[in-house]
Amino acid sequence: MTVRFPPGFLWGTATAAHQVEGSNLASDFWSLEHTPGTGFKEPSGDACDQWHRYREDVALLAALGFGAYRFSIEWARIEPEEGRFSVAVLDHYRRVLAACHEHGLVPFVTYHHFTSPRWVTADGGMTDERTADRFARFCERATAHLGDLIGVACTINEPNTPILVSHTLGLDGKGLEAFSGDGVAEAARRCGVARERFQPFLFADAARTRDVLLLAHRKGRDAIKAARRRDFPVGVTLSMQDDQAVPGGEARRDRMRDELYGGFLEAAREDDFVGVQTYTRKRWGKDGGLANEDGVPTLVMGYEFWPEALEATIRYAAREARVPIHVTENGIGTDDDAQRIEYVRRALVGVGRCLADGIDVRSYFYWSLLDNFEWLFGYEPRFGLVDVDRKTQLRTPKPSAHWLGKIARANALEA
Ligand code: BGC
Repeated sequence: MTVRFPPGFLWGTATAAHQVEGSNLASDFWSLEHTPGTGFKEPSGDACDQWHRYREDVALLAALGFGAYRFSIEWARIEPEEGRFSVAVLDHYRRVLAACHEHGLVPFVTYHHFTSPRWVTADGGMTDERTADRFARFCERATAHLGDLIGVACTINEPNTPILVSHTLGLDGKGLEAFSGDGVAEAARRCGVARERFQPFLFADAARTRDVLLLAHRKGRDAIKAARRRDFPVGVTLSMQDDQAVPGGEARRDRMRDELYGGFLEAAREDDFVGVQTYTRKRWGKDGGLANEDGVPTLVMGYEFWPEALEATIRYAAREARVPIHVTENGIGTDDDAQRIEYVRRALVGVGRCLADGIDVRSYFYWSLLDNFEWLFGYEPRFGLVDVDRKTQLRTPKPSAHWLGKIARANALEA
């Protein structure tokens, strides 16, 4: 059987600035990683040094057969102090964008991927409405400088993640503090503010992030559209899991869907697309989330190997948001590259079924191009198609990189 993808379908990989660039010194996460009592397994450090090696990465991606690259521009570098925008940093991102065009890659640009400037987080961060205005101002500046080179734009990566992580871990809407030791409080102290004011993405009081992040998305999107000199699609990406109900758990599952995606999928109706990002499934019973099922492999991230989650989440997102779908992240952290290929193959067969049913799916971005900094987990989970030597930064494509690149080139999968 051959699964064919529509003409113009984008094949790419995704990364985020903090996870690959290195030395993101003015960001809130840099502080969180370096305070005593931190919940981070290790600091991000040099990451994959993409700040200097972007040309090599872009060239490699193109040589493998891909036609698009999703990456983020770092607010903390562009506006390290309030109102002080760095033209040099914006120029750097112009060079990254130009490199994409030179190599025939469509640049898919994310304006916020988890990290913020430290000054934003220390002044209310993700629970303060002023963050939405500050983010919109950043979007406007960045778009005025870069907009002519952008292919597709995403305002905020997974604004629902604080809520989703909180509920998946059974924290009922509270932030991730339980998993971050005293690090967040210490980072706040070092910034000279009370813990209550210091509200970073992931560690913010999750229930209070929804309205601020929805507002930031709307204002950011409008600012991007107002500042751009050339038309390109603008949307938001969401963290989604295949929420399944065991018998008796249907009402709970539906309630959880409202809690996890409600507001976000509705907001996406006003956008040009919604980005689906999926890694696994979650089973819900009458009284709450269930543990992993016996017999289903558990991955290094702690969740189940469940490639069919992609098909289920695309269908759900398309039904609720009623706009075109981009698969902006899908992948697996594993040391077993054959398991990676199996995961992506099954996920893509699911995309094929969605397309056959007339769902407008426009891309597939594998997470991630490189083995990179996996937030609290440090460098242990290996999501990359490309191995990165932690001492030399040498990039070595894995068999999965060649396998997926070939599919990208053919725009078809022999299943
Ligand atoms: C995030 C990435 C992360 C990936 C794998 C996504 O939710 O956007 O930053 O590395 O999941 O865990």
